[in-house]
Amino acid sequence: MIGRAIAARLLATGWAVDLIGRDAGHLPSGIADAGGRFIAADRDEPSQLAAALGAGADLVVDCICYSAAHATGLVALAHRAAATVMISSRAVYVDAAGHSSNSAIPPRFDGPVRETQDTVPPADTDWRTKNGYGASKVAAELVLLGSGLPITVLRPSKIHGAGAHRPREWVFVKQALDQRPAVFLANRGADVDHTTAAANIAALVELAAAKPGRRILNIADPDAPSALEISRAIAGLLGHDREEVFVDSRTTETLGRHPWQRPYPIVLDMSAAVDIGYRPAGNYAETVEEEVEWLVTSALKGRDGSELPPRLDAEFFVPFFDYPAEDRYLAARPQPGIADPF
Ligand SMILES: NC(=O)c1ccc[n+]([C@@H]2O[C@H](COP(=O)([O-])OP(=O)(O)OC[C@H]3O[C@@H](n4cnc5c(N)ncnc54)[C@H](OP(=O)(O)O)[C@@H]3O)[C@@H](O)[C@H]2O)c1
Repeated sequence: MIGRAIAARLLATGWAVDLIGRDAGHLPSGIADAGGRFIAADRDEPSQLAAALGAGADLVVDCICYSAAHATGLVALAHRAAATVMISSRAVYVDAAGHSSNSAIPPRFDGPVRETQDTVPPADTDWRTKNGYGASKVAAELVLLGSGLPITVLRPSKIHGAGAHRPREWVFVKQALDQRPAVFLANRGADVDHTTAAANIAALVELAAAKPGRRILNIADPDAPSALEISRAIAGLLGHDREEVFVDSRTTETLGRHPWQRPYPIVLDMSAAVDIGYRPAGNYAETVEEEVEWLVTSALKGRDGSELPPRLDAEFFVPFFDYPAEDRYLAARPQPGIADPF
């Protein structure tokens, strides 16, 4: 998802872009058509990465750097790059009580989170686990920044973009494709969990290439839409005329669940990026269009409605769809003009 957005932006402005992966079949056709070149290499094979980089590059971007070991491999490449960017995560941040976005107890930040906010302690642990993810990212960041090289660490929030493995917007796109009569939103749709367009990451990466530096920057959309605003943006794009049913917070197990549920808002402060000249590609509603179009194009229309193509993480979405419960709720409501017998 992220590499695709960065490649699209750079190719459009005249860069030569090589994309590294293990499977050439994963290269989006639009990127190949625009001149993106695929090089097969496994990041766990340092010699393959070194060969892919060759004599060097103006910019190296690592979208899959999760650990100190990965970072050590990236530093070796960064010596041959004018600028390097590593994709970290907002999952590194902790609130005053030490809770992160991956903690069992949700974090409660005082306001928009700046890059100076405390982080989880670094750890050499399994980055694939909920607890290990943030700690491993911090460990990777420390290796990169400690190298003294012009490496920019970006901390995105919840990313949206074409090619997402887990495209959260699917929750509302599927409802539109299935022509659901109503959208249900827990906590009246007021929850805010900052979104980050892959296209906005790409805009900041382009700037980091123009102004190489050793720094950490947040990256999130210029607005921080609530779940209600997210659902309305998608309904608007797809012409989905539906009723909004507000479900009071956490009174029900499944009705109104969505991927941006948060008891306290998480918003990233973008002033550090703006201070070095960052200009976003667009706000949430503008940038989400690409992912929505991609989802509509790739959705499979099956007997029971719209489904994600099998390569995407369909399991993740199971808790967000309970159409029978929604139908029961709608049917059980007192009808307008009909006296409530109770
Ligand atoms: N999703 C979010 O909301 C979110 C939020 C904050 C931060 N992040 C960060 O975003 C990054 C993930 O970015 P993404 O969603 O763009 O990832 P992605 O869509 O899963 O893409 C990963 C790319 O890396 C390639 N790849 C995977 N393993 C490889 C290996 N061993 N060697 C070479 N290439 C390999 C994959 O191609 P092949 O399979 O063909 O190798 C694919 O092209 C992570 O660093 C994550 O921490 C994500």
